[in-house]
Amino acid sequence: MERTAISASLLAVCFVLAACRGSLAAPFCPAQCVCETRPWYTPQSVYHQAKTVDCNELHLSKIPWNISIDTQVLLLQSNNISRVTSELQSLVNLTELDLSQNHFAQIQDVGLSNLTQLVTLYLEENQIKELPDTCLKDLANLEELYINHNQISSIGPNAFSGLGNLLRLHLNSNKLVAIDSHWFESLPNLEILMIGENPILGLQDMNFHPLSKLHSLVLAGMGLREIPEGAFQGLDYLESLSFFDNKLTAVPKKALSVLPSLKFLDLNKNPIVRIQEGDFRDFPHLEELSLNNMEELVAVEKGAFSNLAQMAKLELYNNPHLFLLTAALS
Ligand SMILES: *[C@@H]1O[C@H](CO)[C@@H](O)[C@H](O)[C@H]1NC(C)=O
Ligand SMILES: *[C@@H]1O[C@H](CO)[C@@H](O)[C@H](O)[C@H]1NC(C)=O
Ligand SMILES: *[C@@H]1O[C@H](CO)[C@@H](O)[C@H](O)[C@H]1NC(C)=O
Ligand SMILES: *[C@@H]1O[C@H](CO)[C@@H](O)[C@H](O)[C@H]1NC(C)=O
Repeated sequence: MERTAISASLLAVCFVLAACRGSLAAPFCPAQCVCETRPWYTPQSVYHQAKTVDCNELHLSKIPWNISIDTQVLLLQSNNISRVTSELQSLVNLTELDLSQNHFAQIQDVGLSNLTQLVTLYLEENQIKELPDTCLKDLANLEELYINHNQISSIGPNAFSGLGNLLRLHLNSNKLVAIDSHWFESLPNLEILMIGENPILGLQDMNFHPLSKLHSLVLAGMGLREIPEGAFQGLDYLESLSFFDNKLTAVPKKALSVLPSLKFLDLNKNPIVRIQEGDFRDFPHLEELSLNNMEELVAVEKGAFSNLAQMAKLELYNNPHLFLLTAALS
């Protein structure tokens, strides 16, 4: 009885607090959106409090009116927006903008000019077809760009010009048929590149050369049959590389040999027939190697793995035709 009374009065206090908060936020909060201060983490995982306007999943076809000019995080995921003109221009402190799952067909329609404070931009699951030269040029502080799951078939050589602080780029699940090393000349600080699930016809020598700070590269699901010997030249700090679900018939030994820092290598789901002597020789930092789900794999030759000082985890699961394994590991 007493308990109920206490919780009832607590509830009342909560309502009063909520009402106060609501009335403070009300003049500037667009209809149906939620406006409040929320935790926000930088890409380096530093905690901040951010003024957040959450208008996710509201069937909006336009950016709402009356967004407060001190807004730092604006969430508009899963709406029906296809065009922004100058609505974002007054948001001088905008650090995160989420326009994923909307209906943009052109990057020019996203209204990104002058958003110089933007750190994180989500544009995945739209229908953007092209990234022309300098289309993101004002985003000097951008650190993360998620533009995966669009229809991008063309990227200008200077499309990323101005993005000197970009750390993470997700371009996976688009329609790219080639990777142009000119793109990366504007991205000297990039650490993570996800570009899998594009119908790339093949890699070229020096394909990623300007990315001297890259840590992680995902080339999954691209139908790659072979890797040119010089494809990874210049990736001196690459630690993690995934070839998951490609068409490689042999370990790309020569291409891998230029990666002095490699720690994690995923070759799962490739039609590799034999792991040959010397395929994995002299990777002093290699810690994890995954060779799973290989229907065609029949043999791992003696001496396939040698001088792997740091190797902590070797996975060879789900390879139904593999024999001769003991010889390799003896
Ligand atoms: C914007 O806010 C003003 C006053 O705060 C209000 O009168 C107006 O109706 C709002 N506009 C919209 C479109 O909500
Ligand atoms: C933007 O951020 C700066 C620095 O924190 C602050 O001084 C300024 O008042 C903010 N501007 C707006 C419109 O909130
Ligand atoms: C989305 O917007 C388009 C016009 O841009 C309109 O034809 C369509 O009905 C809208 N869809 C929904 C679900 O609101
Ligand atoms: C925004 O950018 C346009 C051109 O991109 C420029 O003309 C305009 O002055 C800028 N506005 C502000 C508020 O900086």
